[in-house]
Parts: sequence; C-alpha cells; structure tokens
Amino acid sequence: NVQLHWVRIEDLPEILETLWRVGLTTMGACGDDTRNITGCPLAGVDADEIVDASPLVQAATRMLNGNPEFYNLPRKYKISITGCRAWCSYPEINDVGLTALRHPQTDEVGFSVRVGGGLSTDPHFALRLDAFVRWHEVLPVIRGISEVFRDSGVLRENREKARLKFLFLRHGWTVERFQAELEGRLGFRLARAVAEEPPEDVYRDHVGVHPQKQPGYCAVGIAVLRGRMTPSEMQAAARLADLYGTGELRVTAMQNLLIPNVRGARTADLARELEAAGLRIEASPFWRGTIACTGTEFCKLALTETKGFARWLVDELERRLPGFDQHVKIHITGCPNSCGQHWIADIGIEGKKLKLDGRLVDAYYFCVGGGVGRHQATARPIGYRVAADLVPDAIERLVSAYLADRRDGEHFRRFCARHTDDELRSFLAGEPAVATVERDPSPGRPPHGVDG
Ligand code: HEM
Ligand code: HEM
Ligand code: SF4
Repeated sequence: NVQLHWVRIEDLPEILETLWRVGLTTMGACGDDTRNITGCPLAGVDADEIVDASPLVQAATRMLNGNPEFYNLPRKYKISITGCRAWCSYPEINDVGLTALRHPQTDEVGFSVRVGGGLSTDPHFALRLDAFVRWHEVLPVIRGISEVFRDSGVLRENREKARLKFLFLRHGWTVERFQAELEGRLGFRLARAVAEEPPEDVYRDHVGVHPQKQPGYCAVGIAVLRGRMTPSEMQAAARLADLYGTGELRVTAMQNLLIPNVRGARTADLARELEAAGLRIEASPFWRGTIACTGTEFCKLALTETKGFARWLVDELERRLPGFDQHVKIHITGCPNSCGQHWIADIGIEGKKLKLDGRLVDAYYFCVGGGVGRHQATARPIGYRVAADLVPDAIERLVSAYLADRRDGEHFRRFCARHTDDELRSFLAGEPAVATVERDPSPGRPPHGVDG
C-alpha cells in the first residue's frame, strides 16, 4: 500500500477522486473487513515465478471487497495470494495465505493454504491445511474460509482477541477441525497436501536487477529505507520509469519500489541515474533489512520515534560494520502492537520508555532470532533493554559475537538458534550474566476506527 501523509481534510474529496480516476482505491484500508489482498509485485513478469496469480488476487478482491456479505467481520481480515517462489506476500502472517506449487506427480499448478496467521501482541504463524487447492477451487476455498471467520460467534466476544488466529490460540480449534468446517461448507473434499519448499530467502523483497520472463527485459528493485520516499525521490522514480521502463512502478510488502520492463542493456544506466537521485539498488544488509513502523510521528499509540531512529541506526551500523555480508532483518516497532513486525525479524526491537536521570527517554526491548520460510520462528524476547541511543552499540556487539563465533558459514539465524536467551543477552550487553527485564504490556487497544 501507499500512504499519503499531511493531507488536509478539505482536500480529501479531490484527492480521493483523483485516486479513483487512476484506478487506485482506499477500500479495505481500515475497518473490520477484507484488507487489500496482497500478491507478488512481480506477478506476470518474474522469470522464476511458478504462476502469475494476479487474476486470482483480482477475482478474490471482486468477491470480497465491497460485498456486504463480508463486511462487519469479527475483526480485520488479511489475505495474500502469491505465485512467486519467494513468498514475498508473507503467507505466514496473514489470516489466509496461498502460495503456488507444482504437484510432484501431475505437474499441475495448485496452491498451499495457510490460515490464522497474525502478529500483534500474540504472534501466531498461519497453519497449513492438508490441501492441494486447484486454481478453480481457490475462490470457493477463500469464500468458505471467510464464512467460517464471519460466522465464528466466539470471536465477537472480545475485540482484542477477534482475529482468525484466536480460534486456534483461545478456542481449542485444530487445523483438522478448521478443514472439516471448510470442507463442510464447500461440499467436497480437497485433494491432500503435497510436499512444498518454503523459501530460504531472508529478504523476500525482489530488490536488485532480475530477468523477466519477457526475453530481454528486467525488473529493477530499489531498496527504500524504512519505506520513506521524499517528493523529489518519487518524481525521480516516476521520471526514470517513463524513461527506462513503461512508466510502471510497483510497490512491495517490505516497503520497496520496483521498476519493471527495463531493457537488460539499459539497467546499468538506470542504476546510475537512480543512485544519483539517492535511490539504491545495491544496499548494505542493514539498509535493505531494516523496516520501521510509523512511530510517534503519526501514530498515537507509539511510545518511541521510529523512522528517524531507523535512519540513524542504519548509518551507524554501516559505519561500524562495513562489508558485513549476511542477510539480516532488523525490525523496529514503536510499541508492542508490532506493526513493524518485530516477531519475524532476526533482531526485532520493541519501543518502550525508560526513566534515566529523572527523564523519560525512548528505549528498546530486544527480541532475537525470528524468521519465516524455511527457518520459521518467532523472535525470542530475551530480556534485554537499552535506551535508544545505545541500540547500535548492542547490535554491534551481538553481530561481532556472531562474526567471531560463527561455524563454517553458519548464517545468523542458526547462530541465534544455537545460543540460549542468557547467552544472547550477554552478547548484546557485552558482559556475562546480565539480569533479565520484563517486556511491557501493550499500551492499550487501538481505538476503534483507527486500529488498522
Ligand atoms: C458521517 C459519517 C461517516 C463518514 C464521513 C465516513 C467516511 C468514511 C470514509 C471517507 C471512508 C473511506 C472510504 C474508502 O475507503 O473509499 C470510510 C470507510 C469505512 N467506513 Fe465510514 N464514514 C462514516 C460513518 C461510518 C459508520 C457509521 C460506519 C459503521 C457503522 C462506517 C464504517 C466504515 C467502514 C467499515 C469503512 C471501510 C470500508 C472499506 O474500506 O471497504 N463509517 N468511511
Ligand atoms: C492506515 C491503515 C492501517 C493501520 C492504521 C494499520 C495498523 C496496524 C496495526 C495496529 C497492526 C498491529 C497488529 C494488530 O492490530 O493486530 C498492523 C499489523 C499489520 N498490518 Fe496493518 N494497518 C493498516 C493497513 C493495513 C493494510 C491495508 C494491510 C494489508 C494490505 C495491512 C497489513 C498488516 C500486516 C500484514 C500486519 C502484521 C500482521 C498482523 O498482525 O496482522 N495493514 N497494522
Ligand atoms: S501501534 Fe505501535 S507498532 Fe503500530 S504503528 Fe503505532 S507505534 Fe508502531
């Protein structure tokens, strides 16, 4: 999605109409309804994709968005459908996640389905149904799952525990029960699941230059730090997309920007021009892997300022750890609600306040070792917290401990998995046996209507 900030209320009608005229909508951006269904931003052009799933994304959107049968759901409802191998639309943390795969015997393209993912204060990875869903079954399956969600009265008892995942977390549902409920509504049994390969890819961001399936063309992915672009960067991106591509720009779930349809021979020139405009195709792992939620600048639940902090943190880490060669994700979230998705980061830091010399300062609590895909794990809250301006020191110490201690090419995730919470805490602190601190509770339930 794209957010516009600093909009004056009296300009809203004109802005909305301008967006509608070019086919952009704000529908599904808030409320207890189906959020913008996400797909792969390289759908239809990625040379490596299993299938272009965008017709299904569009059909599912037509089925649910604006359909009164599926408004006033128990809570917000997120669906992602992707045909790419990177799972860039994060099926694991959506209410419903579909990922394409080929049937090992018949070679038919179908989908794995996961249900009940979500982060917030109770992280839960979506659970895979025992199903190989054929292309023509996708819409009925999504409809059936949406009905199960809509009709689950137990989810309407407590708004804070109303996402689909709470059927599993609080109401004793199992995947088997969910599937039986779904198949009852469908009126037929789904084919059983086949083996799948969750991706190894840490970033899932399509950043860099990638060949398209259209011979001679490439898609160019720009790493946008913490999802912020200035007007002049946006204008440069638009101008260069006109000049080198077909005027098309696509956005990714990890806050990056893609220019598709660039002639292979012209990508080097485009890269140079992007660089001159301050937009990076090649970026350090810190630049590429850092995302931040909105923070105090615009979010009224925030405890800490996140966006400026992220920029400073990345500058510090690039300066202190030049040439660091591992893919790591550093996710910054301004309060325990986890819009910055700190639960799925290698290093996820959660904003809090700390009293220092009688003054309240921004601080961060560390969760370490999270990931999705082949190394799926919720980041472990490891009981370490420091003032915001000491975060680079702590991360530098942890990363240096990893570099000194890694066993033949072991990646950062395995290093974290191999060490106990106490060990990781002492790496961060730079001293042995540091006492644990408790996490803070959520600052409260997001007020109705602006709670995302
Ligand atoms: C004068 C009163 C209201 C105004 C001015 C208003 C205005 C809006 C606007 C501008 C949007 C965004 C439209 C879009 O995304 O295209 C919206 C969305 C929405 N409103 Fe209201 N609204 C009002 C009352 C209500 C009430 C009383 C309810 C519920 C009982 C409600 C429920 C919703 C929902 C669920 C959405 C999201 C719809 C979607 O994204 O598909 N609104 N409203
Ligand atoms: C201005 C509109 C939005 C606001 C204020 C907002 C706010 C939030 C909040 C408070 C959370 C924390 C989790 C929770 O409350 O359960 C969250 C998480 C998340 N949001 Fe949004 N959101 C918005 C729009 C969207 C849209 C349109 C999408 C999808 C296209 C989306 C995708 C996600 C995802 C994937 C997560 C993390 C997983 C989860 O816990 O659900 N958000 N957002
Ligand atoms: S609710 Fe918390 S996590 Fe979400 S944007 Fe606000 S500060 Fe960030």
